[in-house]
Amino acid sequence: MRHILVIHGPNLDLLGRREKEIYGETTLNQINQMIEKEARELNCEVRIKQSNSEGEIISFIGENKDWADALIINAAAYTHTSIAIRDAISAVEIPAVEVHLSNIYKRESFRRNSLISEVCVGQITGFGPQSYLLGLRASVEILKESSEKIRNL
Ligand code: DQA
Repeated sequence: MRHILVIHGPNLDLLGRREKEIYGETTLNQINQMIEKEARELNCEVRIKQSNSEGEIISFIGENKDWADALIINAAAYTHTSIAIRDAISAVEIPAVEVHLSNIYKRESFRRNSLISEVCVGQITGFGPQSYLLGLRASVEILKESSEKIRNL
């Protein structure tokens, strides 16, 4: 069974009441239920964490480095500011998928710059809660590909 970390960054605990015209009405609890359901269908186990603190996100990545096969991260505003989260992803050498609910390229110009995308396999942005489910599917595909490569060595 694949083990996947799902990380929600700052202010995502307010989903459902935060800037509904951008982020929609789905709450974080509902998104987490959707993630858990999709994970069961894909035969994955997930550990989900939301934090408003940069340090807690970094510690969560480090603490789970031996458990996780892949990680999905919506670093929220830290996407645009945090070299420390970028370094944490890079340090653990676990394939990472960057996700965003909104399309960060359609908004203010400061959101176009992601400090973490260079250390992620790819980015999924703009599909609302579906971004996480696509991220889960992408992670499973990445892991399948890498185990096929190892088998063919
Ligand atoms: C976000 C986009 C970020 O720019 C913003 O700071 C967020 C949420 C998204 O999911 O669309 O908090 O990561």
